[in-house]
Amino acid sequence: MLDIVRTAGELRTRIVAFRSHGRVGLVPTMGAVHDGHLALVRAARKTCQRVVATLFVNPTQFGPAEDLAAYPRDEAGDAAKLASVGCDLLYAPSVAEMYPAGVAANLSAGELGRVLEGKFRPGHFDGVATVVAKLLEQSIPDVAVFGEKDYQQLLVIRRMVRERGMKVEVVGVPTIRAPDGLALSSRNAYLTAAERNAAPALHRTIAAVAERVADGRTRASDEIARGTAALHNAGFATVDYLALCDAETLAPVEAVTGPARVLAAARLGTTRLIDNVPVIPAT
Ligand code: PAJ
Repeated sequence: MLDIVRTAGELRTRIVAFRSHGRVGLVPTMGAVHDGHLALVRAARKTCQRVVATLFVNPTQFGPAEDLAAYPRDEAGDAAKLASVGCDLLYAPSVAEMYPAGVAANLSAGELGRVLEGKFRPGHFDGVATVVAKLLEQSIPDVAVFGEKDYQQLLVIRRMVRERGMKVEVVGVPTIRAPDGLALSSRNAYLTAAERNAAPALHRTIAAVAERVADGRTRASDEIARGTAALHNAGFATVDYLALCDAETLAPVEAVTGPARVLAAARLGTTRLIDNVPVIPAT
């Protein structure tokens, strides 16, 4: 059984004891744990003697029309899965514990939080930056692990950590996918059987764009138009964005000259899926 603590005070007491065993790793989650989350715990275990996961469905990163109330919750199931891969402690605070002075995002994710996802989810990354800063300040881990599945989030967190002068090492873990390529996500549970069949087209499409632009000569705009059409054909009703971006700044890129990333968000029925892949420059 995984120990669960619910207050920042208990968390601190446990982490002080953990420090006598070596490095402490933190894996923030909103629960609905799947193999993607477990890969983060495994990655933390590689360099840390103790691993703490957090489970908090953060209200400040959900928009008014988003799925906060419906977000899947199964704390006992999540705790069992986390324990099975060597997690040592689960921090599952209440909203009042995390936001004692009122539920508001009091940090800005900056310009990085306003592009791509940020355009379609205004304020989302301010909420992410706020809650991750709180979690890091409460636990002061040596390492904090996040998934590349949410690539823009990973960049926002790296920037926030740098800007606040936090000592924590931020580690990014490659996306864990189903055998057909669909990135594992808690929101995949919302897909109907027909939508689930169509869903792998998202990864297939961005992987094809990434492969074509990797030569440095192919123009991104042509590939993006072709990819957008492919997504519509596969059954995606709307494509919020399909973009080739600089891997550090997320500035749009027309021809690849350095580290780049293809990122996309598209809607299948009522479910919005996001995914991204690196561009591996052709040699
Ligand atoms: P959540 O969506 O629960 O994801 C928790 C962590 O798991 C994030 O770092 C996310 O990128 C990672 N993750 C999700 N699916 C993954 C996959 N298929 N492969 C690899 N990693 C994956 O992201 C959040 O929660 C929240 O925004 C949070 C950071 C906890 C702040 O509230």
